[in-house]
Amino acid sequence: MIIVLLGPPGAGKGTQGEKLADQLGIPKVATGDVLRAAVRDQTPMGLAAKAAMDRGDLVPDEVILGIMKDALAGPGAARGAILDGVVRTVPQAIGLSRVLGELGRSLDAVLLFEVDDEALVGRLSGRTVCESCQTPYAGQAPGSACAKCGGTLVRRKDDEPEAIRNRLRTYHAQTAPVIGWYEQAGGPVRRVDALGTMDEVLGRARRALGL
Ligand code: AP5
Repeated sequence: MIIVLLGPPGAGKGTQGEKLADQLGIPKVATGDVLRAAVRDQTPMGLAAKAAMDRGDLVPDEVILGIMKDALAGPGAARGAILDGVVRTVPQAIGLSRVLGELGRSLDAVLLFEVDDEALVGRLSGRTVCESCQTPYAGQAPGSACAKCGGTLVRRKDDEPEAIRNRLRTYHAQTAPVIGWYEQAGGPVRRVDALGTMDEVLGRARRALGL
């Protein structure tokens, strides 16, 4: 299955993407995670992306299309993939469609996680993430240990208030039009109410996928 996760920052794409990937036995590909690893390792891609990411702006489409292509063409994605935050502009949606066509594959679903802006700000202000495996946590102080890999939990630079506001503006201006593009193209968009406990949201996501 190839599944695109869409939704504003803090909607729970990473949280639910991880669970769905485990349950379906397919990898989760998150461009945010790939880019943060590149920033940490100071690769040319990371050095070029860092400033835009810290501000909460998008990195250029061609960078994302390269990551997308590498991830989908590799053997890891032979049985499918959960694409978390991989599509954030209409050119990226068009690019994904082209890459899938070249590989003889198709998109099974676009899961759109819906949460109002006020709840998102609350979630992001309280989030810490593991600096090694990037698992997100709520209500865990920076410096605590990651329950999954033992890494250290840190605050993300783009979870500062000004960057959160910019990410929300960017989402409404550049990513929300992707929903209309998929709907017009007859794409399989399934809306998921992402307010509620993590288990409730997972149940809704599974039902939306017909699981
Ligand atoms: P990325 O890392 O993907 O950031 P994002 O899209 O802003 O999404 P987040 O990771 O902030 O939120 P999420 O929806 O995954 O929520 P989470 O599960 O963590 O991208 C970072 C940057 O990289 C971008 O700003 C951009 O610069 C660049 N980038 C990446 N992809 C790109 C692309 N395609 N094009 C261009 N640039 C790109 O949950 C959030 C918090 O809420 C956590 O603390 C979690 O524990 C908690 N939580 C989750 N579910 C619930 C629930 N049901 N109830 C209460 N709390 C919950």
